[in-house]
Amino acid sequence: MLVRDARESDLPEILAIHNNAIAETTAIWDTEPADLAERQAWFETRIAGGHPVLVAEIDGAVAGYASYGQFRPKSGYRFSVENSVYVADRFQRRGVAKTLMTELLERARKGDVHAMIAAIETSNTVSIAMHENFGFKTVGQLPEVGHKFGRWMDLTLMQITFDDGVASQR
Ligand SMILES: CC(C)(COP(=O)(O)OP(=O)(O)OC[C@H]1O[C@@H](n2cnc3c(N)ncnc32)[C@H](O)[C@@H]1OP(=O)(O)O)[C@@H](O)C(=O)NCCC(=O)NCCS
Repeated sequence: MLVRDARESDLPEILAIHNNAIAETTAIWDTEPADLAERQAWFETRIAGGHPVLVAEIDGAVAGYASYGQFRPKSGYRFSVENSVYVADRFQRRGVAKTLMTELLERARKGDVHAMIAAIETSNTVSIAMHENFGFKTVGQLPEVGHKFGRWMDLTLMQITFDDGVASQR
């Protein structure tokens, strides 16, 4: 498995993983599929903001991707980011997310990030357990703030703070 920065040419595969998560899971709270132009704009915003977009490549295919962007737009939030990690169905349970998250956290520590927030639909116990294993703590519960697949969804907010990171000197 190779973890590297994403390239524009990865966007069709990233789009396929993204749209599968929209169609099949409560991980992304969109109800309509995205198109390539939307993913292109997302990618350009991340790169312009100095934020990483990582892919895990297995046998030449994009097995998964992970990224973070500023948590909320106002400038006071500039040292806080929200992360995301998605793995294609056929590559799940092979350590892809763990490998991506390890590199993403390393980038955050070395970059100018003080806090990383994961916003996870509360029934997504796999993602919650994985973030706990990386040291994230549950800091908030927002009941019934989403609606998809004919039901209300709760949001669990988890956070890790980099006391040892570059941004901690501020
Ligand atoms: C959550 C997700 C990213 C995990 O990706 P993955 O590559 O399969 O995960 P890994 O193989 O790296 O395993 C990570 C941990 O989760 C556990 N895990 C993964 N899939 C699991 C499953 N279906 N059931 C139980 N545990 C599971 C693994 O055991 C592992 O922990 P451990 O090895 O320390 O015990 C993947 O299931 C996914 O893309 N889901 C849909 C999108 C999503 O929920 N993204 C997160 C949004 S916040």
